[in-house]
Amino acid sequence: MKPTQTSRITGFYNLTVSERLEQLQGLGWLDSSDIQILQGLSSLTIEQANHMVENVVGLYPLPFGIALNFLINGREVLIPMVVEEPSVIAGASFMAKLARAGGGFHAQADPPVMIGQLQILGLTDIHHARHKILENKEELLKQATQSDPLLSSLGGGARDLEVRVIEHSPIGPFLVLHLLYDVRDAMGANAVNTAMERIAPRVEAICGGKVHLRILSNLADHRLARARCTIPTDQLAFEGFTGEEVRDGIIAAWAFAACDPYRAATHNKGIMNGIDAVVIATGNDWRAIEAGAHAYAARNGQYTSLSVWEKSNDGDLVGTLELPLAVGIIGGATKVHPLAKLSLKLMGVQTAGQLAEIIVSVGLAQNLAALRALSTEGIQRGHMALHARQIALSAGAKGEEIEKLANALIADGVIRIDRAVEILKSWRKIT
Ligand code: MEV
Repeated sequence: MKPTQTSRITGFYNLTVSERLEQLQGLGWLDSSDIQILQGLSSLTIEQANHMVENVVGLYPLPFGIALNFLINGREVLIPMVVEEPSVIAGASFMAKLARAGGGFHAQADPPVMIGQLQILGLTDIHHARHKILENKEELLKQATQSDPLLSSLGGGARDLEVRVIEHSPIGPFLVLHLLYDVRDAMGANAVNTAMERIAPRVEAICGGKVHLRILSNLADHRLARARCTIPTDQLAFEGFTGEEVRDGIIAAWAFAACDPYRAATHNKGIMNGIDAVVIATGNDWRAIEAGAHAYAARNGQYTSLSVWEKSNDGDLVGTLELPLAVGIIGGATKVHPLAKLSLKLMGVQTAGQLAEIIVSVGLAQNLAALRALSTEGIQRGHMALHARQIALSAGAKGEEIEKLANALIADGVIRIDRAVEILKSWRKIT
């Protein structure tokens, strides 16, 4: 990124798609090869797709948008987001603008340490077996690290080993070995699964048990990412609401999610709206991220909010978010899918940790967008304009008809497909 580049681009929403591309190119964010990819001229081919998964018969495109205004750890970042839901990109951009006034987002990621698990069955002396495994820790760590010489040459490899006793289970007691494995810039599933399979026979020999499952855990709670932001209260005022009212409304909305799992599920879904969109744009495994996030949200026995919203000493709104974020910038689709490569380039990320810092910031912005809307005007108003466009599209509107039909539906106050088809038919009869 050139030092003069800013993610604060006004009026972007009102431009046509080609004008947006031209502007991003003019500002130095994209070059002509990026534009070719975005226009679908050199994006994922059916041949590439055929090497990625089985039984390929086609490709499935989704909207690719850019969230603006993000300042993360003092750096201007444009955020690529792949999502089918209206209002997500607009919401993130708007909240990033409010957060800019308080210095933007401050984010940090833990070292990329994943957990691999071995389930060890067939032991009668399980506490004794646990000790024997721990006595041989150094040897097992060495063997695990040697299972991936490339990763180890980059500074990755096994960091530690823990052995847990599961006393009560439907099949009786068993042992669980956790290997903590630094996967550097990878998501890490392959490296960890390989290491677990590699050490399993030696673990059996050491403890006399039978290793059953050998697999990574998606509850990557050694690989957390966290973000915080401060929103000056005056930034929150709008229409009939004072900044203080909006701030207190957001805190009350968060309190609901903090105490009630029914609300927490929806609250966290809003956070994941932002997180998944960037995870997908970068070709990462969004099911792994979802699994980790929700398991982390329930880590203390009750499912709760992943974020916290409070009032600072100065009366400003402060938000924090922390969750496991096992994302990579090498391996998998990140290095195969042209749009995933473009997304990483656009954000200028050099490490998986930097990517996690961006993603957690987007999650926090997205959460703020939802809570602000919910605790003031309600979610529907903002949604409706975009929803109306989708309905217009599904009704078969083309070109200029789309905007016109969406406006007609909003004016009518009935945003339904049957009404859209009716209006469209009536127009086409006349012309
Ligand atoms: C909709 O996709 C997400 C929200 O429901 C999140 C929330 O309720 O916090 C608006």
